[in-house]
Amino acid sequence: MIHAMSTARPRVLVTAALPYANGPIHFGHIAGNNLPADVFTRFQRLKGADVLSICGTDEHGVAITIAAKREGTTPQAIVDRYHGVIARILERMDIRYDNFSRTSRPINHEMAQRFFTDLLDGGFIEEKVEKQLYSVADGMFLADRYVLGTCPKCGHENARGDECPKCGAWLDPLTLIEPRSALSGDRPEVRETKNWYLRLQDFQPKLEAWIGAKTGWKENVLRFVQAMFKEGLRERAITRDLEWGVQVPVDGGDGKVLYVWFDAPIGYISASIEWAEAQGAPERWRDYWQSDDTRLVHFLGKDNIPFHCIVFPAMLMGQKEHYVLPDNVPANEFYNLEGRKLNTSAGWYIDVEGFLDKYPVDTLRYTLVATLPELRDTEFSWRDYQMRVNAELADTFGNLVTRVLKFAVSYFDGKVPEPGAFDASDEALLADVRACADEVAACYDGYTFRAGLERAMALAHTTNRYFNEKAPWKSRKTDLVQCATTIHVCIQAIRQLALLFHPIMPQTTERLVGMLGIDSPLGDVGWDAWAEASLPAGHVLGEPAGLFTKIDDDVIAAEIAALEAQAAAKTKGATMDAEKNVTANETTTDTTYEAPAIRETVSFDDFMKLDLRVGRVLAAEELKKSKKLLKLEIDLGVEKRQILAGMKGHYTPEQLVGTNVVVLANLAPRKMVGEESQGMVLAADAIDGAPLILRIDGEPPTGTTVH
Ligand code: 2FM
Ligand code: ZN
Repeated sequence: MIHAMSTARPRVLVTAALPYANGPIHFGHIAGNNLPADVFTRFQRLKGADVLSICGTDEHGVAITIAAKREGTTPQAIVDRYHGVIARILERMDIRYDNFSRTSRPINHEMAQRFFTDLLDGGFIEEKVEKQLYSVADGMFLADRYVLGTCPKCGHENARGDECPKCGAWLDPLTLIEPRSALSGDRPEVRETKNWYLRLQDFQPKLEAWIGAKTGWKENVLRFVQAMFKEGLRERAITRDLEWGVQVPVDGGDGKVLYVWFDAPIGYISASIEWAEAQGAPERWRDYWQSDDTRLVHFLGKDNIPFHCIVFPAMLMGQKEHYVLPDNVPANEFYNLEGRKLNTSAGWYIDVEGFLDKYPVDTLRYTLVATLPELRDTEFSWRDYQMRVNAELADTFGNLVTRVLKFAVSYFDGKVPEPGAFDASDEALLADVRACADEVAACYDGYTFRAGLERAMALAHTTNRYFNEKAPWKSRKTDLVQCATTIHVCIQAIRQLALLFHPIMPQTTERLVGMLGIDSPLGDVGWDAWAEASLPAGHVLGEPAGLFTKIDDDVIAAEIAALEAQAAAKTKGATMDAEKNVTANETTTDTTYEAPAIRETVSFDDFMKLDLRVGRVLAAEELKKSKKLLKLEIDLGVEKRQILAGMKGHYTPEQLVGTNVVVLANLAPRKMVGEESQGMVLAADAIDGAPLILRIDGEPPTGTTVH
């Protein structure tokens, strides 16, 4: 059904990937999709668009049942808990949706079943008895995250049965190399079971034509889908032998549920229906989902590309009712933390709420937007955060606001001064003030939020330079008209900065609007009206106050130390858990560490070629030239060696001197950062490369051989 548009306002439908309700969300989710979606939504609203923004929690699938097992509770208890936790984090981040729903709600079950039935009726779903991985030890078919193995596409050793978290490929569990059960470690066998398969190949020509006509899509997204087309789409199982999820709505579907990735994106539609019902206009969701003039934008991370660009569009194409397809899918790359992959269970994360208890939300929103992984993987680092708060927000933007407004209060009676004739530099800044609104708007509209932020900050820099060059503190004594002109022009620039930064820092910019003595919130005025207007001479300004507080070095150092300690405590906890589990003859399903598959067998003779020795660390120092390396002097009994070890930041020299370690003594010498390394100290690569040195029981003499 196509509904006619009743208004000329552009209609925009924004979705942000639904996080699994199996834990709190972290900076990766926020930078990956929630924050860009929010900035985009706020911008579009300022531009006058009719926007519906949707998100919610993804509450089915093995991500949830594994969490329930790990925490010794039910899937329902898990999703109830984490839906609330995630909603609260988003609220505190000032990330707002028109509806933040849940895929476990009855409306989503109903819609997912309707989608399935339509596809079945259309001949796009077929029933097949096919081979699947079955674990005898676990007594079940190993769907999705229940099975791990090496990714056949990129070689990542911890790919899951359905998707690879590294390269984003949508996998068939039977193609995993060296599959193993995530529950028991058991090597599964292949057994037959009945499932329903979505015939994606039936949609390939239409999908190719649709994507082929797209302009303005990101290269990474296009490359990904083109590769899938090249390989050829084929049917994929969209049901699972599980209990938790949406029941398969056909005879013979008992004991089977729809694949989580089938019902999750339908959650966007169900959430829209729920929203429309809450508005008292139950059909209004159709204005967004079924009108071809809707601009549907899916915000997500790169691992979600195949589902939003291929599978969900195919599902939409196969419905009896008409649905719009995404206008764009601006997928982001991954967001890391201090040089390492974010990993909640390894303690390598920052608790968002803890962060917001200490630091203002807008400083975080600003820093995350400034470092969004739009083109490549990026990271949050505490030092970068400090630099952005101190140098960019406080010294550049905040300081400009304070000194200009205080000047106006002190010398112009708290009013916008009457300017004289503008000279070339006044005109140049005013022209920049006018031009940047369109330039920043183009960035926000085109999903290049970082560039928008940089352009806005460039205006703050230019205005600071202008202020310094004009030196109003001097002209106040020599040429009051010129001084008034300078302050007048600076106030116009500050007013514009409030607009440009508003989608990124809504609270701060509304405070600034108050300081400028403007009564109506910026959000109510609109982008174009604000950009074109200016503050007239004589306008009474508000009370100036500092916008940002700087952060001291020792605060940042303490945060870094706390992060390291949190990860170390988790590592220790994980080791103790593992010991407990062994005693209880249980295997852990903790996702703390997904052990890689065992490598190729080596012969005993090959092993005996390794000369392993007990060595004593005589001296240790941090190598200035390297971020990672410590230089160790080690006594091997027969001789002393210089060995470079990648342990800087994990062990201090003091922790190592005088201890015994295991050394691979006959490793060929290697040069690193201009220094020779004559062997290797053995360590476990516990968490994302953080080494844990192998210790020795007792006090064997140095040089003792180790087998
Ligand atoms: O990858 C994930 O975290 C999924 N829960 C995203 C789902 S997005 C949508 F399709 F629901
Ligand atoms: Zn992969």
